[in-house]
Amino acid sequence: MEITVKIFRYNPETDTRGNYVTYKIEGDENDRVLDVLEYIKGMRDGTLAFRRSCAHGVCGSDAMRINGRNMLACKTLVRDVGANITVEPILGLRIVNDLIVDMEPFFDNYKKMLPYFINESPLPEDGRERLQTVEDRARFDETTKCILCACCTTSCPSYWANGEYYGPAAIVTAHRFIFDSRDEAADERLQILAETDGVARCHTAYNCTEACPREIKVTKAIGEVKMAMMTGKV
Ligand code: SF4
Ligand code: FES
Repeated sequence: MEITVKIFRYNPETDTRGNYVTYKIEGDENDRVLDVLEYIKGMRDGTLAFRRSCAHGVCGSDAMRINGRNMLACKTLVRDVGANITVEPILGLRIVNDLIVDMEPFFDNYKKMLPYFINESPLPEDGRERLQTVEDRARFDETTKCILCACCTTSCPSYWANGEYYGPAAIVTAHRFIFDSRDEAADERLQILAETDGVARCHTAYNCTEACPREIKVTKAIGEVKMAMMTGKV
């Protein structure tokens, strides 16, 4: 089948603004959009710039807007989006080159959430591990699945309006630790998220939940953090 792909192109060394270039290629409905981009880069234009690494939905590096929706190119089949495909960079982050955006602000917000296990108490007497019930583990199971692709944050209207907002992905990261019964820094993280650019900027648009390629219920997780903040109970 013929596939028509319109790709946003921007070279910071030569362009003052971006433009769209259309490529027509032969492909298969079972090709992934990443395969299509690889083909164009390999056979038509080696200057096409985009990120990818694992090619299997694990590393989170190939988030892009495909026909107007944030998706991972490696998890999106041509048959799911049709033979006319428009590919653009995710919104709300500075474009570095073609489909590559500057992820630094995104990861700066991630780091603000203290994204690591904090527990200064002595280990249990047997010295081996901090136990947790199956029910306690289940409370944050979903948010452990985040691959930091930024599909959620860059589909959020509040983030587009104010790039200082920590954003859904950062809150998902905080959730993973706040609701871990073994961690001792929930209050500290809740204080960080109570700041002006924290959860108060979420207006429950649900774009984040729709965009998440890991099917994490992002809006629900943000709601649980808001509730913990209001009640003081984790
Ligand atoms: Fe990506 Fe989902 Fe994590 Fe957001 S919550 S960064 S959409 S995996
Ligand atoms: Fe790793 Fe798509 S290339 S998630």
